[in-house]
Amino acid sequence: MKKIIHLSDLHVGYENCGVNLEKIVNEIIAHYQPASEYVVVITGDTVDDAKQKGAYEKTLAILSPLKKAKYQMLVVPGNHDYGSGGLGDEKFVRLFKIAYFGDENISYPKVDVIDNIAFIGLDSMAATFGFFDRIGADGELGKQQLNALEKLLAGHELAGKKKVIYLHHHPFDGKGKAHMLKDYKKFKEIVENKIDCLLFGHNHDGNQYPDVWGIPYCYDGSSSTGKSAPKKPATKMRVIEL
Ligand SMILES: [Fe+2]
Repeated sequence: MKKIIHLSDLHVGYENCGVNLEKIVNEIIAHYQPASEYVVVITGDTVDDAKQKGAYEKTLAILSPLKKAKYQMLVVPGNHDYGSGGLGDEKFVRLFKIAYFGDENISYPKVDVIDNIAFIGLDSMAATFGFFDRIGADGELGKQQLNALEKLLAGHELAGKKKVIYLHHHPFDGKGKAHMLKDYKKFKEIVENKIDCLLFGHNHDGNQYPDVWGIPYCYDGSSSTGKSAPKKPATKMRVIEL
């Protein structure tokens, strides 16, 4: 079964985050071979400020050696991918899809079945563009996305497969209202005891949560590139074998 390399909160554009990401990319290529055994999952905040011209392109350029070396890569947006972090702009939803998927019509949950693992990517910024809603770094999956997720997990399509959900916002420790995933209670109802792995970022903590919500592998990806001087050293990457 494929192993997962979890990266999060790259924040390219902030101080030395770009250089740190280059080092991580080189480390992956040097130490985690063959590429075909790994899937790289990035849980958002690929850039520090989406409003800066060419922000996505800068991150993509640094990640491009991974693509060339044939690593499969999956990504979801974080609050910084849709603005400067505290104020989102809906126009970036489309621009992010074009930059990272080359297709503005993809929708979330985004399902990629790779070997026997179903990777389910969520946009935790999906319902955060209301007049007041767009202010703050909190997240909300929204009814539409949650209903689609519920249907997906209840259906036969993914039966017998390992299920990995990845999203940006921390699903149960929002560190206060300004950063929380607002509809986490409904999210919990839907995923509890139904998935094998839950990956996220946002808090830059790097914590692990064994067996929360009946999910065996549950990880905060830290800020891989070390943004915001976390109290403990950044977890650059985690390699997860389900
Ligand atoms: Fe972040």
